[in-house]
Amino acid sequence: MRAWWRYLQAALALFGATAAQADPLAESLGEGIVRYWADAATRDGAPVSVMLAEPRAGSPLAAPTGVVPRFLNGNGGRIVRLDVPRGATLHGTGEVGGPLVRNGRTITCWNTDAYAYSSTSPSLYQSHPWVLAVRADGSAFGVLADTPERITVDLTRDIEFRAQGAAFSVVVIEGKSPLEVLASLSQLTGRMPLPPRWALGFQQCRYSYAPSAEVERIAREFRARALPCDVLWMDIDYMDRRKPFTFDPRGFADPRALADTLHSRGFRSVWILDPGIKQQPGDLVYEQGTSGNHWIKMPDGSPFVGNVWPGPCVFPDFTRRATREWWGGLTARFVERANADGIWNDMNEPAVFNVEGKTAPVTARHEADPELGGPGPHSRYHNLYGQQMARATFEGLRKARPERRPFVLSRANALGGQRWAATWTGDNRANDEHLHMTLAMALNLGLSAQPFSGPDIGGYAGPVTGDDYLRWLGLGALLPFARAHTETGNVRKEPWSFGPIVEGYARRALETRYRLLPYLYTCFEEASRTGAPIARPAFFGDLARTELRNVEHEFLIGADLAARLLWAEPMPDSPSLVGGRSGRWPRATVVAGAETNLLPTLHVRAGAIVPLGLVMQYSDERPLDEIELLVAPDANGHAEGTLYEDAGDGYAFERGEFKRWRFVATTGADKKVRVKIASAEGSYTPPAGRRWKVTLLGAAKGATSEGP
Ligand code: GLC
Repeated sequence: MRAWWRYLQAALALFGATAAQADPLAESLGEGIVRYWADAATRDGAPVSVMLAEPRAGSPLAAPTGVVPRFLNGNGGRIVRLDVPRGATLHGTGEVGGPLVRNGRTITCWNTDAYAYSSTSPSLYQSHPWVLAVRADGSAFGVLADTPERITVDLTRDIEFRAQGAAFSVVVIEGKSPLEVLASLSQLTGRMPLPPRWALGFQQCRYSYAPSAEVERIAREFRARALPCDVLWMDIDYMDRRKPFTFDPRGFADPRALADTLHSRGFRSVWILDPGIKQQPGDLVYEQGTSGNHWIKMPDGSPFVGNVWPGPCVFPDFTRRATREWWGGLTARFVERANADGIWNDMNEPAVFNVEGKTAPVTARHEADPELGGPGPHSRYHNLYGQQMARATFEGLRKARPERRPFVLSRANALGGQRWAATWTGDNRANDEHLHMTLAMALNLGLSAQPFSGPDIGGYAGPVTGDDYLRWLGLGALLPFARAHTETGNVRKEPWSFGPIVEGYARRALETRYRLLPYLYTCFEEASRTGAPIARPAFFGDLARTELRNVEHEFLIGADLAARLLWAEPMPDSPSLVGGRSGRWPRATVVAGAETNLLPTLHVRAGAIVPLGLVMQYSDERPLDEIELLVAPDANGHAEGTLYEDAGDGYAFERGEFKRWRFVATTGADKKVRVKIASAEGSYTPPAGRRWKVTLLGAAKGATSEGP
């Protein structure tokens, strides 16, 4: 053995590692997708994969990926390293605070109740052991550590995964662009199902609107003030002493009557359900769970007990199908009683009060089904707990209401969980740090296969000024999940709480979202079909301009619309996708009277057509009989765009009852812009008397046009 090799071995041993094997075992999982194992013995002894939507047999490798992982074994743990090509920026890693570019960060996938977290907190509520690398030339690759267990993702020098648990494989996905990599990732891990259209509306929450008369008052205020809103949320105070599946006999004596009132005013309701069930002999849910053997156990076989909102609680073992079905049935009966429209699963890391680690002990036992890897310790199943709870909820709703699309919001989740729930970025703070990192968090979730996310608009912890509220709302109203929320005891944060001037601009911000709904829904449908994120980093607009990689004051909604946050610009001449005089992203006025530096400006890509709807007080207030097409012709006078529409709920769209319109605009020698319907796929019938209105942007502004 050569001397340098021996030195290398000795140096690595000092750090508790041994030299990498020369060639890991590689198998193809599809075009540009390669799964790597340390060796055949590791592969044969590894537990089943739970990060992939379904088990996948590898086939012989056609071509290796551009980067190949090196497996090192140190300290009895697992270390895997991959080189980062010079100039590549790293993204993804799921729900993590801090900037859009993840280079230099170390995070640990371990779902944690992270109240008032910071930009450097190593673990938040969700686990996505996934890194998206975008090379300087715009090509991309992604790396997935296929394990649900606690794993550290260290991006300080290269990409390094460090885990203590069972051996795992590393999947590398190559793509010509980040979108191509994300398409493959969603093909492997599953896609967000198309949500009901109302879930794209604005939503208002507080811990808590109670009693029910207060919920009705909030509903009346929204409508009286003409502030668009689709959903009001019930936090834990609707419950009887905070016990899931109960109603406070005084404050919420008749939840169905409340739901009826809300429905009559065009509101949907979403109700919170936490996993902790009070350990209370005689209590129906507790007795059922006990006789059905549904609880997580301690090593001695007794149920694990931890304190949460109702007091000492036991916790359903969602890794068992039988338990998920039981919980799904409870949820189905609950939504029936409350006539609820959606369910909010919270505290499902699971969060436990007043214990080290704020969760169940890693030695607690799960009776998991073979599909998830069979019986095993909480250390294996911790990061899947929230995901499997969301799955139980989604499947329960689907079964109970086969003709309605479930809407589930879950705080804890893991890569792949986009199949069952949307998410929000947990208990943020109403401060500058959070205001600034909100966008990067939502964007990186989108780059981690979860397109449906947003923050607590206005900030959960702490008070907020009217100006900052508008900054939150302007941004939040453009993110996929748009819900305002705040904690108990905090100042009021409804849009009218900051005086008439702020309320006026808040109305414009909300109206902007409702005008954008047809386009947003088109983006949601694309995400559900291809895995493409809805909110995208500005750099997606021009992958060759590497100076855009860390732009966090602009972002894209789909491919054709950009938003610019003037208040977030670090310097007047900061790199910009939409700025400059090139006219490649002409500005669009979507709602008049929204001119303030606190609200974003909107820009349409030259070459694109963006469909707008009408201002409504809720998403299905009126038929969409007029669609306005914002047309931004490119240098050749050409533009194209898409509109997807369907019934907005139910599954008829799966049987072809949708409409996918494709529009093409051309400019004639007479300078007239003509917009035509190039194709109209699907059998959905749009509202009778549908009108198309054309608005020209950019250089074409003022030219004459002809609609479809
Ligand atoms: C958790 C949630 C928060 C909710 C509160 C009470 O802190 O993150 O959104 O309001 O519990 O249910």
